[in-house]
Amino acid sequence: MSYTAFNSNAYLHHIALKTRRPLELAKFYENALCLEKRRISGGWILSGGNRRILILNNKTNSLGFAAFACQDLHSFKVLKRNFIEKGIKATQDDASLFDKDNFFILDCDGNKIYFGLNKNRKEKSSSLNGPLQHITFTSTNLDNFVQFYVDKLGFKISDKVMNKEGKLTTCFMRSNQEHHTVACFLSSECGLDHFSFEAGTWEWIKNWCDHFSKLNIQLIWGPGRHGPGNNLFAFIEDIDGNKIEISAELEIVHDRQIKRWPHEPNTLNLWGGAIMRS
Ligand SMILES: [Fe+2]
Repeated sequence: MSYTAFNSNAYLHHIALKTRRPLELAKFYENALCLEKRRISGGWILSGGNRRILILNNKTNSLGFAAFACQDLHSFKVLKRNFIEKGIKATQDDASLFDKDNFFILDCDGNKIYFGLNKNRKEKSSSLNGPLQHITFTSTNLDNFVQFYVDKLGFKISDKVMNKEGKLTTCFMRSNQEHHTVACFLSSECGLDHFSFEAGTWEWIKNWCDHFSKLNIQLIWGPGRHGPGNNLFAFIEDIDGNKIEISAELEIVHDRQIKRWPHEPNTLNLWGGAIMRS
C-alpha cells in the first residue's frame, strides 16, 4: 500500500524566504511576529513560539522553500522510500532547519518542498500564540498542481472552489487533520501567495491585531471568516510584499466528502469568505 504525506501526519514546520534585503526583512519578522533572530551564513533564522522562518540573501525576492515535518523517523523513512518508488527525486542537503534526516523534492511548478524531522531545539516562547500552519501557492496549472500533491505526495483534498464554467480556481489540501496545510490558487504566475499562523481563537486574533496596531502595521484584509476551512483571519504583508495570515478556528477534518464552493465575488459572506454551495 502506498504511504503518503497524510499517513506521515506531516505539518508545516518552517519556510524560507529569499530577499534582496535580509537584515531589514529579519528585523520586520523579529518585531511583527515576535521572533528571535540569529545570524547564519547567507541570512537569518527567525524563531519563537513554533514560528520558524529562514531569511536568505538573494538577488530577487521569492519563496525559498517550504518544509514539512513528519511525525517520527519511521514515517519519514517510509515516506521517502515511497516518493522514490513513485519516481520523485529526493535530495538530502543541509539548507533547511532539519537535521540530516531530511530531503527535498521539486513539485510540478518547481517549488522546493522539504520533508524532515523536528529537531526539538529549545526556542524562545512567545507572548502571542500562533504556530506556522499552512502555505498557499499560486499556479498557472492548478489541475496539475493538485494532481501532483494528491497522487504523488499523498495530500487529501478538503475543499475545492470552482468558477461558473466548472473550472477549479482554488484547492485546499491537508497532510494531517487540519483543513489545509497546502492550498493553491489558479493564477497567471506560479509562486507563493501567503503563509499562515494558527492563533487558535478569536481572542488571539484580536491580540495579534492590537500588536500590529502598536507597530503601525496595517491590516491588508480582515478580520473576517473564510468559507472553506471556516477560519477567522487577518492579513498583513511584510516589507517585500509577502502576505502573512493570522488564522483561528481552522476546521479539523476527520472524514468527510470534499466540499465544493462557488468562485463568485458577490457571494462573500459578512466576514469576507465564500458561501458554500448547497
Ligand atoms: Fe490561508
